[in-house]
Amino acid sequence: MVEVSASILSIQPENAIQTLYNLETAKIDYFHIDVMDGKFVENNTTTKMTEYCEYLNSISNLPLDVHLMVEDVESYIHSFSIFEPNIVTFHLEAGKDKEQIMKWIQMIKDKNIRVGISVKPNTNIEEIYEYLPYIHLVLVMTVEPGKGGQELILETIDKIRKLHQYIQKNGLEVDIEADGGINTNNASIITEAGANMIVSGSAIVGSDNYAEVVSRLKNKLS
Ligand code: DX5
Ligand code: ZN
Repeated sequence: MVEVSASILSIQPENAIQTLYNLETAKIDYFHIDVMDGKFVENNTTTKMTEYCEYLNSISNLPLDVHLMVEDVESYIHSFSIFEPNIVTFHLEAGKDKEQIMKWIQMIKDKNIRVGISVKPNTNIEEIYEYLPYIHLVLVMTVEPGKGGQELILETIDKIRKLHQYIQKNGLEVDIEADGGINTNNASIITEAGANMIVSGSAIVGSDNYAEVVSRLKNKLS
């Protein structure tokens, strides 16, 4: 079964509480927390995502899937681990060398949090291979990180396929999460390529029946 991680980046602040409640009752599997620092990507969502995490910690038991689109990964690992997320994912492109990437992986593991590494659309998928034995999840960006509501970049699907084949061939246990522009029309292509987790934001939040969209995303119905 595909797991759905709902991005809360595009929810309207004025009715955030109701939206978060409606997402949970729509049977999403994770809240996807898009943390942006205004440096790694243009937008800065740090304050907004911190507030949402504080609120979610008080009203929901659903796991948090934190996606760090930041340069200073170390300080953001510290500041978001206080919300006891299930997953913390940082960008491969934020690391200056293997030593720093391995240090961040260990920092997250030491906090008993699952480790994800994300790759942007233009990053070759082979660059992640050396880290696969040490991480729980690869977040394959199917849009350029930085905002919601974009069109899925079709060329990224082949990266998911290649990654899935490599993981299978090498007997590794790593989840593949796809993120960006995913909706009920393209979810089945993404999951057939090998993703077992999908992020969806505007396709759910922009709909008038969250439960219906989540169910169709999960059941690969287009
Ligand atoms: C983009 C974020 C995505 C995005 C997904 O930088 O990482 O999680 O918010 O939203 P949609 O599904 O609207 O593309
Ligand atoms: Zn994301």
